[in-house]
Amino acid sequence: MILHDIFPEVYDDLAFDIEAYVRAMAMKLAQTLSVDDADSFVEEKLRDVAFVTRALQDFSRSEVMSILGDLDDDSRWSKQIADFEKFMLRNVDPKGFEGAADDRSLGVGLFLDGALVCLGEHQRTFKFIKAIFSRIEELEARGLSDIEVVDAGCGPIPVMAIMAALKSPAARVTCLEINKASLRMAEKIVERMGLSDKIDFVECDATEYEHPFDIDLLVSETMFTGLTNELIVQILDNLSQYMAEGGFIIPNEISVIAKIESSSSEYEMEPLSVYEYIPDEREGERRISFEIDLDDMPPGSYTLDLGSVVKLASGVQVEGDDSGISSFGTVGEFYVPEDGGTLKVSYLAGEYIKDIKISVN
Ligand SMILES: C[S@@+](CC[C@H](N)C(=O)[O-])C[C@H]1O[C@@H](n2cnc3c(N)ncnc32)[C@H](O)[C@@H]1O
Repeated sequence: MILHDIFPEVYDDLAFDIEAYVRAMAMKLAQTLSVDDADSFVEEKLRDVAFVTRALQDFSRSEVMSILGDLDDDSRWSKQIADFEKFMLRNVDPKGFEGAADDRSLGVGLFLDGALVCLGEHQRTFKFIKAIFSRIEELEARGLSDIEVVDAGCGPIPVMAIMAALKSPAARVTCLEINKASLRMAEKIVERMGLSDKIDFVECDATEYEHPFDIDLLVSETMFTGLTNELIVQILDNLSQYMAEGGFIIPNEISVIAKIESSSSEYEMEPLSVYEYIPDEREGERRISFEIDLDDMPPGSYTLDLGSVVKLASGVQVEGDDSGISSFGTVGEFYVPEDGGTLKVSYLAGEYIKDIKISVN
């Protein structure tokens, strides 16, 4: 069992029996209503899809909201998010998922262990939840009766979609996922949490998918640091065509940061912002090209690292060591000659880090 191998203590502690939970809810209702034959009443309720769904959804909402509490209390966030992760893990059933997500080209398909690593990047997960909650509160304040949410690249543990669905009774979420096995697993989790009537799934390529309604909130975490390896730019460029007026996109801005370090001396350049991406409907290729003047640098070998600052909502951003979507990763090495020169870097958004060519002229 993959989950058991990765998180034995959590899985053993929290093995979750949905039927037992719903049974207890039904028994409580039987007692409240002073039903004569409580056992038959409970059996009937266990076959009542609407009751079961409502019971699970109430449970999920009250549990998650009590775990998360006040997201602005900086002293608690680490415990809040660790407890939230445990809650989510109780709803993961890894059966049938082993080896299913086998296409990893450009971030397509995520093994369960990869999804758990994403969820376990606590700063990343916490900040996305914070941004989703704050944007939904803003949309609710406008009095919308339906809040149309799209989670592009929901992965096998569709945490963004679940958060949006639990946050507001008005939220209706569509999860887009290119990988069939991930999609199926996400569907199962959503069912276990009683959210099937609030969250739909579409197996598709989000760089081409056409959404039939105006989107109030678009969220996507299909990225890697330096806008490399994964196709968030192409996904957001496509889906931003379907935004409702005043709708929100998470993330709403991504900066690529470059850093140069000497391989042999202490020399380290101040990180430089070299590219800003703001999602819009622009067509054509998205190329990240920049040059860095090397004339003032001592001759020798250097490395180029790329990182990102990912802005999610006002005052909420993922940066530095928060996550693999922001932390510096080495792109390549180069040599600065006696007479200096210019470092030239050019790559398409989403290109694999290993394929990025750098040159000094
Ligand atoms: C890094 S995971 C994020 C999972 C989850 N949203 C989270 O934040 O924990 C990205 C997911 O996007 C999916 N994906 C990548 N490219 C896609 C595309 N073009 N269309 C739809 N889904 C895509 C991958 O299969 C993967 O499951």
